[in-house]
Amino acid sequence: MSNYHIKNFPEYYHVYRNSVRNPALFWEEIAEEHFIWKKKWDKVLSWDFTKPEVKWFDGAKLNITENCIDRHLATRGNKTAILFEPNNPNEPSEHITYNQLYKRVNQFANVLKTQGIKKGDRVCIYVPMIPELAIAVLACARIGAIHSVVFAGFSSTALATRINDADCKMVITADGSFRGDKTIDLKGIVDDALEHCTSVKKVLVAKRINSNVTMKAGRDFWLQPLLDKASDDCEAAEMDAEDPLFILYTSGSTGMPKGMVHTTAGYMIYTAYTFKNAFQYKENDVYWCTADIGWITGHSYIVYGPLANGATTVMFEGVPSYPDFGRFWQIVEKHKITQFYTAPTAIRALAKHGTTFVDTYDLSSLKVLGSVGEPINEEAWHWYNDSIGKKKSPIVDTWWQTETGGIMITPIPFVTPTKPTYATLPFIGIQPALLDENGKEIEGNQVEGKLCIKYPWPSMARTIWGNHKRYKDTYFSAFENMYFTGDGALRDEVGYYRITGRVDDVIIVSGHNLGTAPIEDAINEHQAVAESAIVGFPHDIKGSALYGFITLKDVSDYRDHDNLRKEINQLISDKIGPIAKLDKIQFTAGLPKTRSGKIMRRILRKIASKDTANIGDTSTLLNPECVQEIMDNSL
Ligand code: WTA
Repeated sequence: MSNYHIKNFPEYYHVYRNSVRNPALFWEEIAEEHFIWKKKWDKVLSWDFTKPEVKWFDGAKLNITENCIDRHLATRGNKTAILFEPNNPNEPSEHITYNQLYKRVNQFANVLKTQGIKKGDRVCIYVPMIPELAIAVLACARIGAIHSVVFAGFSSTALATRINDADCKMVITADGSFRGDKTIDLKGIVDDALEHCTSVKKVLVAKRINSNVTMKAGRDFWLQPLLDKASDDCEAAEMDAEDPLFILYTSGSTGMPKGMVHTTAGYMIYTAYTFKNAFQYKENDVYWCTADIGWITGHSYIVYGPLANGATTVMFEGVPSYPDFGRFWQIVEKHKITQFYTAPTAIRALAKHGTTFVDTYDLSSLKVLGSVGEPINEEAWHWYNDSIGKKKSPIVDTWWQTETGGIMITPIPFVTPTKPTYATLPFIGIQPALLDENGKEIEGNQVEGKLCIKYPWPSMARTIWGNHKRYKDTYFSAFENMYFTGDGALRDEVGYYRITGRVDDVIIVSGHNLGTAPIEDAINEHQAVAESAIVGFPHDIKGSALYGFITLKDVSDYRDHDNLRKEINQLISDKIGPIAKLDKIQFTAGLPKTRSGKIMRRILRKIASKDTANIGDTSTLLNPECVQEIMDNSL
């Protein structure tokens, strides 16, 4: 019998030890006993980090939707699979049972087929947090189309870049979306994007806000009439274990966003197993992850992980501040949420308002609290623990990445003693390592280094879509025979891990990864801008916010700096999305550079964080004189 559900610390210890002594045997038992297969595998694991190539359960045939839906019908047909909570609290919630989900996914899958989508085709999903988003994802998986969900807060340029990179044949969208008291014209954004995309033949449009949209004949179709005509029976495509399930874009430190490719069997097993244990999910629990399905957290822990366990998973369309800052807690009370999984940035934003908005609601249903996306600071941790968990619900601070597919370092609630700001211990099967500057593994405790993973795990991304070399260069070249995460970490005296943050040029703003390069590219397109450098600086709510140092071509051209700031932020908003806007913009005469011409962001980072005492030696710079000027005028 495999240890699918870990219940106490000795068991964690025992299972962990087995899982790393013989990973293939460990994962084979899990796969064998807890999932359904059309055909079993030939080999559990083959890998070579030098290529890099990783295959789990090679030769096996399956369909992930049969594991997430079909197999639950006999025992849980009338159980709520997806519980939809709309933006507006006066609109009723919607309970979609497993039986209904089965029908709706199959209908949608049949629509995809009749609209010309085949196994292996890429479908871009640009849909807000309404049930159609999860259903579209599952419908793609049903027929073996590769979904590429793009967060419906990205701009038309960002959307077009992603559609083109994956060569998508179809876009699924909605007329618009509700966010708090605003509506967003999604269809208009899609129309703008498609001016630059030739691969897209069809656009399916869900109706959400009843706005007037332009429908291009022959290309654009309302979704509902097509669904109404479709049969609710669609055979699940037979997929290879290593067939791509989806592409999801994440920012890199340079260049284009990276289309991380996740494959089928390993991703399914790992997200399911981590979901069960990291949240200690029990049959009648109501689990809520507040992320958007546009990010990996939503893929793994709103859709696939929960559904693979036959869970009830909540999808919330709105924002934490609408109609007021009590919205999250009102939902917790309303649906008697048992597991609540959110991001530190949301916790900080809510903590700012004290407990006035918390105290009116009954939060006694909560058993487990989760945190993800960025380091959780001590103050936020305590507020979450005291005011929300009432000191009785353990906080699972889960460290992981788009690339890792599932949770990698986390306490297991009621099993691992927690410690504020620590993600604590590696999850079952995960072998972390800390490396020094010379690429040597740092052994022992009370040490700090760059966080790597030594051995493959089932849900790791297999490649970057269309660019395997970049995959190798980014993750497998910094350290020999290791996956490099891009994060720094320390290990305390008992072996607990604390993530200290990115060691590359990725900045995490409100839990969203932003690469500096694309933002700088956007800024540099402004006719007045000569050069720019973006760094992060500490921010009370967002964790980090963006600070731009910008030099102008002709300073006399633009005396009205406030206007220019607005134009630059508008440009960023258009090219990337509002999440990438700069909090501070400082115009400078020069940017500090090395003799080889590389901008010294380290110095700018110190200035932005008001840590100028530790600025270090600047005498070797090409232009040391600019540092003083930047310091004098810093914001
Ligand atoms: C950061 C989100 C500290 C980290 C699932 C990582 C965290 C990046 C934590 C991935 C955490 C995520 N503590 N830092 N618990 N979780 N991070 O791809 O820097 O959106 O590399 O995946 O977020 O962000 P991504």
